[in-house]
Amino acid sequence: MIRILTTTVALTAAPFAAFADGHSGDVEVLHWWTSGGEAAALNVLKEDLEGQGIGWTDMPVAGGGGEQAMTVLRARVTAGNAPTAVQALGFDILDWADQGALADLNAVAAEQGWDDVVPEALKAFAKSDGQWVSAPVNVHSTNWVWANTAVLEENGIEIPTTWEEFTAAVETLKAAGITPIAHGGQAWQDATVFDAVAMSTGGPEFYEAAFIDLDPEVLGSDTMREAFDRMAFIRENVDDNFSGRDWNLATAMVINGEAGFQMMGDWAKGEFVNAGLTAGEDFACFRFPGTQDQVTFNADQFMMFDQDGEVSPEQAALAMAILSPEFQSAFNVVKGSAPARTDVSDEAFDACGKKAMADLAAANESGNLFGSMAHGHAAPAAVKNAMFDVITAHFNGEFDSETAVEEMVTAVEIAQ
Ligand code: GAL
Repeated sequence: MIRILTTTVALTAAPFAAFADGHSGDVEVLHWWTSGGEAAALNVLKEDLEGQGIGWTDMPVAGGGGEQAMTVLRARVTAGNAPTAVQALGFDILDWADQGALADLNAVAAEQGWDDVVPEALKAFAKSDGQWVSAPVNVHSTNWVWANTAVLEENGIEIPTTWEEFTAAVETLKAAGITPIAHGGQAWQDATVFDAVAMSTGGPEFYEAAFIDLDPEVLGSDTMREAFDRMAFIRENVDDNFSGRDWNLATAMVINGEAGFQMMGDWAKGEFVNAGLTAGEDFACFRFPGTQDQVTFNADQFMMFDQDGEVSPEQAALAMAILSPEFQSAFNVVKGSAPARTDVSDEAFDACGKKAMADLAAANESGNLFGSMAHGHAAPAAVKNAMFDVITAHFNGEFDSETAVEEMVTAVEIAQ
């Protein structure tokens, strides 16, 4: 279900008739876009709303991947003080919808024709029981590697296309005294790397069976052990200060030429662009070796919390601003993601952005588009967190690969 993208092109300048008037208030937006690149992208949205006379109350909660933001959100909702709009991912959205907490966006969606242009893979999380409950902003994907072109050239390294080529490149960098892999030791970052490593080790059927179907045999398989062995190789090739480092500081190590590679979702591109670097010239983006045909995606969306029984004019205006084709291009060019509509031209996008859009369409076409485990699009939060615990414990040397596999099976079983 989450693999089908619609290709319908239906671009009309929405009349905004039902929602154009009557908004005078502010929107309070809870999000975790606090890095340089993320803040630059968020500014595109703020300015769009300000242009419509809508004020913006910023509620940033730092912490990549959004775990801390979700904790703050739960506290706010429990206190009866939900923000107007909240950045969210995958299964978390469906969870809030199940609790009846979200405003019905159907009228807005109908007016702007969302059903015709939003990919099915995103609708699977933006709609609950046929009702639109969130506004999709983008499509990110996690199976990317980012590299400093000059560092690669100086060390005679070609873009690796297999795990073996990748390990050889890592050894070359290590011998040259460069940190081979820039990494931040936080559970969600370890898991982001694991998305790509697992896909590369076992292929798409393995990934789907393990992370989406939660098949205990696959979770406990030799292939899973091999994936953990590859994680151990990666652990050996990060610097001594990796623990707790924020993802954007790891990106900065690649930008500064201190490190060769970072495995991270394409929000990392926002950091390169924000630093004034050019895709394909100063930095390279490529799919994690062995996952060239696959895409593990996560889509940021804004849930609108139901505050007085129906969607407010400000919430409607925010949702419509997000889904407008112009905004989708302007925002995603800065953010590093692909648009959440299938009818947006790739013209304004750089080489990595064009590749993101082309890869997404191709992966969807070939049945190789899968929700990211690390970013809440493969399994509900309890299962995701159980996997995080095992992946991180292994990365930090608490478990060997054999134990990690056993723990994975047990942890996932308990979490369900
Ligand atoms: C992801 C989110 C991205 C980016 C990243 C790091 O979960 O989808 O938009 O913000 O976290 O903060």
